[in-house]
Amino acid sequence: MKRVLVTGAAGFIGSNLVHYLVAQRPDWDVTALDLLTYAGNLENIAVPLRDKKIKFVKADILDDGTIGDLCRSHTFDFIFHLAAESHVDRSIHGAMAFARTNVLGTQNLLDHAMANGVKRFVHISTDEVYGSLGPTGRFVETTPLDPSSPYSASKAASDLMVLAAWKTHKYDAIVTRCTNNYGPYQFPEKLIPLFITNALEGKKLPLYGDGMNVRSWLHVMDHCEALLKVAEGGQAGEVYNIGGSAEAEIPNRDVTYAILKLLGKSEDLIQKVADRPGHDRRYAIDYSKIKSHLGWSPRTSFADGLKSTVEWYLNNRAWWERIKTGEYLKFYDKNYGDRK
Ligand code: NAD
Ligand code: TYD
Repeated sequence: MKRVLVTGAAGFIGSNLVHYLVAQRPDWDVTALDLLTYAGNLENIAVPLRDKKIKFVKADILDDGTIGDLCRSHTFDFIFHLAAESHVDRSIHGAMAFARTNVLGTQNLLDHAMANGVKRFVHISTDEVYGSLGPTGRFVETTPLDPSSPYSASKAASDLMVLAAWKTHKYDAIVTRCTNNYGPYQFPEKLIPLFITNALEGKKLPLYGDGMNVRSWLHVMDHCEALLKVAEGGQAGEVYNIGGSAEAEIPNRDVTYAILKLLGKSEDLIQKVADRPGHDRRYAIDYSKIKSHLGWSPRTSFADGLKSTVEWYLNNRAWWERIKTGEYLKFYDKNYGDRK
């Protein structure tokens, strides 16, 4: 039995990780923590909560008192740290929340983890910290950090603070850097769920720039499998790249066509809009380290993963329709209103 804390547990990857841990390690004691910002939704973990498979704590990772009490009272074996501000476009409109949560919040959690004997801290980061690739090559763990957006800059800063805890204090911390995830429960502001839900509503699909920016897509459950392998078998102080295989390195335009095809919708829904400032051209990851050290590789092909994801959004219309109201619409107008 292990005691684990998952931060950001009501968000996209965090909630999928909670489901994965409950299924794969049913004897573990899982505490789910989340501030429930606009991106956090308790519906995402309603079933394990209802079945009392997990405990839930609503808290800000910056809350000294609550985080300190939690770490003191639980002697966690692992913290999976996923709580973050995660959307590049929002970071362009305002970076402060990103500096606050991603940098200071991570440091607060790390300090309490270290002070209270949390055995291992797994910091979930992104390939975006490496910046933009040209037409060839892939990121390796030693690629210099060169982030472009306030989001990726805040993640790079937090990665370095976590690695400093290992270098300075020999605190058992690991950083993972993953490519773009997709799958159930992803907030419909990111490319794939935004385009699926807009198409279902008969709205335009706002494709930035020439649509030829390349992302490497990984199904969220493959990411969760990698995170569990890292927690159980990874080496302290190491960075592990996690990512999609070569077939899942796809220009946004082709992802858009694939979504429209699965939904039987017309390509006329595509609307080319002004590019994102500082838009990274291409991401691709070399995951040979985690493959050779921990035996992980992606299992889900992009074609299968996209098909099941489209089906999930078709079958869970009430989930995303409730989200696409209120605050969401204000952001939508701000981000897309002046792009046309
Ligand atoms: P998300 O935005 O869906 O979820 C983030 C969660 O963190 C939300 O539930 C939110 O309520 C919570 N949160 C925000 N601020 C908080 C605070 N101050 N205290 C406590 N909780 C807070 O994001 P996601 O896509 O699930 O990403 C999770 C992590 O994985 C992030 O660290 C992100 O950088 C990283 N990551 C994401 C991707 C991706 O493609 N989505 C890829 C690689 C890495
Ligand atoms: P996104 O899902 O925001 O992830 P990230 O910026 O972290 O990679 O965007 C994925 C790609 O899709 C990125 O190249 C930007 C592009 N994109 C659009 O073309 N239109 C959109 O409305 C959004 C949200 C993203």
